[in-house]
Amino acid sequence: METFQSLLAKKLSNALFAAGLPNAGELTSATDPRFGDYQTNAALIVAKQQGESPREVARRIVEHLKVDDVGEAPTVAGPGFINFTLRPAVVAEKTASMLADERLGVSQAESPRRIVVDFGSPNVAKPMHVGHIRSIVLGDALARIASFLGHEVIRDNHIGDWGTQFGMVIYGWKNLLDQDALQQNPLAEIVRFYKETNALATSDPQVREACRQELVKLQGGDKENIDIWNECVALSMQDFEHVYELLDIHYDIQCGESFYHDRLPGVVEHLLKSGIAELSEGAVVVFFRDVPELSDKPCIIRKRDGGFNYATTDVATVDYRLGELKADSVWYVVGAPQTLHFKQIFEIARRQGYQADLRHITFGSILGEDRKLMKTRSGDNVPLRELLEEAGRRARKIIEEKNPDLSEPEKMDVAQIIGIGAVKYADLSQYRMTDYVFLWDKMLSLQGNTAPYLQNAYVRIRSIFRKAGKSWNWHPADKEIGWKPMRICLNESAEINLAKRLCQFAEIVPQVLNDFRPNILANYLFEVANVFHTFYEACPVLKSEEPARSSRLALCYLTGRVLHRGLDLLGIKVPEKM
Ligand code: ARG
Repeated sequence: METFQSLLAKKLSNALFAAGLPNAGELTSATDPRFGDYQTNAALIVAKQQGESPREVARRIVEHLKVDDVGEAPTVAGPGFINFTLRPAVVAEKTASMLADERLGVSQAESPRRIVVDFGSPNVAKPMHVGHIRSIVLGDALARIASFLGHEVIRDNHIGDWGTQFGMVIYGWKNLLDQDALQQNPLAEIVRFYKETNALATSDPQVREACRQELVKLQGGDKENIDIWNECVALSMQDFEHVYELLDIHYDIQCGESFYHDRLPGVVEHLLKSGIAELSEGAVVVFFRDVPELSDKPCIIRKRDGGFNYATTDVATVDYRLGELKADSVWYVVGAPQTLHFKQIFEIARRQGYQADLRHITFGSILGEDRKLMKTRSGDNVPLRELLEEAGRRARKIIEEKNPDLSEPEKMDVAQIIGIGAVKYADLSQYRMTDYVFLWDKMLSLQGNTAPYLQNAYVRIRSIFRKAGKSWNWHPADKEIGWKPMRICLNESAEINLAKRLCQFAEIVPQVLNDFRPNILANYLFEVANVFHTFYEACPVLKSEEPARSSRLALCYLTGRVLHRGLDLLGIKVPEKM
């Protein structure tokens, strides 16, 4: 289904061509609805290129613009913007065709790609903390949106389950383990003795050496150490899986660092042979002498003691994803502190001749109320699992107040949906690069740009349909779309505004992937909920006469489906009641 935006963009480029002007500028939805629905800065750009008056260029473009099939005559405003206003009848027609479209007008990508999304990727023997949430929530939303757009997505959890820390973990297990504590809370106990070993190793060279020995034994295949390692990985995974269940996160593959272990010698060999890496002071190193920003930042891929490191593993990972999984793109949803690391890895991949699109998708930090990195009172990282459990408890209180009549299982279910939704949405509604302050009351509020506000709008719509009677019953998750295209009549301005917003769903979803910004979708859904509330206050639905009644019910139906689908693309569920 062609969107208004792409239709107008085509008309604009035809007009530029007919006016003998170069194709330039963008056609976007209007920043201020008073001036229309869409706008373009084409005249400003062309005028600048050609040293002419922007308003004069705008006038020439408008002369050639043929938009009477969709809109009013375009107008020129301000320094030379061209504004477009859609005709209500055309909006009504498009809205009617959305009714019967399972994809709500969103087209599939013209050239689908195979995309590996590397997100979450926690480390064994360390609990997941609030810092991991952005990677998980952002990566999941991007993966959902990419697959909805028709790409083939492989979700990969690149777990840190191998590396030098295991020397200490094994030493701690053998010397400091408290069996009872391990029964009680396995990961907490592993973290405890790991930390203690770490402290010991710092002050005592003998412990340091003992840890090194344990690591050498592990890497040499010693049975006892391998068993301990396996046990620690399994116990950590249980904790991770609990978090994934709370957050409703799924992976297609979980190829952690250990998966690449056997490939590392070959990787280094290959880089040496092809001249990409060289021996330097006993280590194997890749230099980037011709890349200005990396010229003094070589990357070690085999240490002097023969050990491999994080970078070696990531080079092997690129080989696997591009060479064996045949990915066209890899998205690494990993914090900004690893920027240099990924620049190096991507440059090595380029030198190996890979042409895939490799992206490091970074994000800002989550801050506590004191605007510093979020920590517990004792200064530790806030464990993610506890945070998510608290979200459920807090949401439960809200439901007790709002709808005490719900049954116990309903309350539990709804509290989960609202609590988790609030945490995810607080993250996704921000531009990913901005730091944000984690505020329970704000994210759980039923007012403002929050998940509970959107979920409540959806619940309201569902209750309209329960009142409307059986023949109107529907559920957005129904595979079969029960709605045939029907006549939509748009008379009131609140109806027109709502319908126009709904038609933009198909324009917004693909935009998210331009710069990996789910906040574009989140903020769009917030606007939809707002215009819906205005519509609902201005236009009676169930009490109005036909044909307005059916037409308004259809608008409610579409709003419900857009909210349901939009939130689903963000990984957020909706309750039926709340
Ligand atoms: N485990 C790493 C960390 O917590 C993140 C891994 C990211 N992915 C990768 N391919 N390096 O810092």
